[in-house]
Amino acid sequence: MFVFRVLLISVLMLVAESTKRKSSNIVLIVADDLGWNDISFHGSNQILTPNIDLLSLSGKGLGRYYSHCICTPSRSALMTGKYAHRIGMQGFPLSNSEDRGLPTNEKILPQYLKELGYSTHLVGKWHIGESRTEFLPTERGFDSHFGHRGGFLDYYEYTLDEKWATGTVTGYGLFKNKTAAWGVEGYLTDVYTEEAKKVIKNHDKKKPLFLMLAHNAPHSANEPAIVQAPPEDVRAMKHVEKTGRRIFAAMMKKLDDGIGEVVEALHNKGILDNTVIVFIADNGGMTSGFKMNYASNWPLRGLKMTPFEGGVRVPGLIWSQDFKTPQNLWNGYIHVTDWLPIFMNIAGAAPPNNISGIDLWNSIKANEDSSRQEMYEIDDRTGFASVIYGDFKLVTGHVTEEYSDYEGGDLRGIIGEPPSYNDAIEKSKVYGVLRKIGKPVKKIDYNLRKQIEVKCDRKDTDEICYPNKDKICLYNIKEDPCETRDVSKENPDIVVNMLQLLKVELTKTVPRTDPPLASDPRSLPSLHNNTWDTFID
Ligand SMILES: *[C@@H]1O[C@H](CO)[C@@H](O)[C@H](O)[C@H]1NC(C)=O
Ligand SMILES: *[C@@H]1O[C@H](CO)[C@@H](O)[C@H](O)[C@H]1NC(C)=O
Ligand SMILES: *[C@@H]1O[C@H](CO)[C@@H](O)[C@H](O)[C@H]1NC(C)=O
Repeated sequence: MFVFRVLLISVLMLVAESTKRKSSNIVLIVADDLGWNDISFHGSNQILTPNIDLLSLSGKGLGRYYSHCICTPSRSALMTGKYAHRIGMQGFPLSNSEDRGLPTNEKILPQYLKELGYSTHLVGKWHIGESRTEFLPTERGFDSHFGHRGGFLDYYEYTLDEKWATGTVTGYGLFKNKTAAWGVEGYLTDVYTEEAKKVIKNHDKKKPLFLMLAHNAPHSANEPAIVQAPPEDVRAMKHVEKTGRRIFAAMMKKLDDGIGEVVEALHNKGILDNTVIVFIADNGGMTSGFKMNYASNWPLRGLKMTPFEGGVRVPGLIWSQDFKTPQNLWNGYIHVTDWLPIFMNIAGAAPPNNISGIDLWNSIKANEDSSRQEMYEIDDRTGFASVIYGDFKLVTGHVTEEYSDYEGGDLRGIIGEPPSYNDAIEKSKVYGVLRKIGKPVKKIDYNLRKQIEVKCDRKDTDEICYPNKDKICLYNIKEDPCETRDVSKENPDIVVNMLQLLKVELTKTVPRTDPPLASDPRSLPSLHNNTWDTFID
């Protein structure tokens, strides 16, 4: 009897051990200032992104993925699972010379994952604090950081220019953990791809891996060379009519190729089958004006830094080898704050309380509707507040009008025939990997792209609603994804309800605390061996 019981207990323990979930690896790839119309998955053949498209087609392309409309807020939300305005990180992005950062009492994603046994690595952009050592990624849960701490870098010199009242200030911005990374050479997108591959290759498989690869691409670089790509890649984009857009297209090719290489590296390491891959943009593209990069949110309205769809409805996808259906779109609402609870679920843990994010992992896997109903975009410095609830979006306050129009239409020009989509797909690294792991690549329906494509019946004579301090605008973003018609008069009850939602959310808003100095002289690169290093310790 005793022997039998011991045996039974050991068998039960064995079963428990084998059913205990093994935490999956998480690879989170972030593109910078990437617009809706800058990937071929959204329907255009002007810029082919076969690796991104195939991950969407064999995973889940996210048709209604929303982010904050600016880098620093969206990265703050990504790291904390909280709306940027709930932690005072909303609005205009951080400069390198500003003493401000994500509050250090916030526990962030790599800290949670590290506690769960993950090794945690950041390759690329940070942009949520760099004036003090305590703000740096390696002080906040990342085992390693290789990349830039500020908004962007020159793709070859790795410098960032700031315009101060005294003139333009230049500094070197590429770091390895806490010190400047000297001796690096090459095109920055390639440099980051190689570094990400190195992290994967050197990873100890006994632990789960969290790799965040936050590319500089396709963000603009310093003036006047605002878009940069290797000449041979630009030459390969002869079909793109406008010169700036042609260089941008080459930047996208390098980004997409790099993603293919990362997927291949995961396969070669033998961990792809237990890895969830997410690819997102941090906010919409900047077609003109401040830090313009020739990105295009067409046909969506508005640019980065606005609450219109072009600023917030951005490319996104999630991929896992376990997704059963060969191809899918997931059209539910999903917000940048949702990644933290989703990743916690994937890691096998419960998400923290008191965050804005919702764990949508099971709904996404099962192709169920999203439980997310509402999303807020609040920028008390520019002076707007907007809410999406169900089919509707309400925008109030002051928006930057010059960034609130329909741009990028003129960037679509093609000379002659664009390159073949199918050829690009079949030559891509992800295609090769999918074949090797037995995915039915031949059965993938590329026409799924047409389902996600946004079409608008906008006429240039339409009267567009611009909100201001006396005027609200209400759009039905499901029927009118281009926000051309104000429907506030027809829907007074919806207006009242949504204003009430905003009123409540505004009471939870933590005001931005700007430092007394915008261009703090202590940050001057010439005081730090010409680098943008920490300057207060
Ligand atoms: C929840 O978060 C808010 C800021 O987003 C903070 O003010 C509040 O103290 C937090 N509450 C708890 C119980 O942690
Ligand atoms: C960063 O520091 C860690 C140890 O704290 C080290 O293992 C890692 O190699 C460093 N990374 C880089 C890129 O230097
Ligand atoms: C200062 O910068 C140069 C490159 O300009 C570099 O070679 C050198 O190692 C740096 N010195 C220190 C102390 O970091």
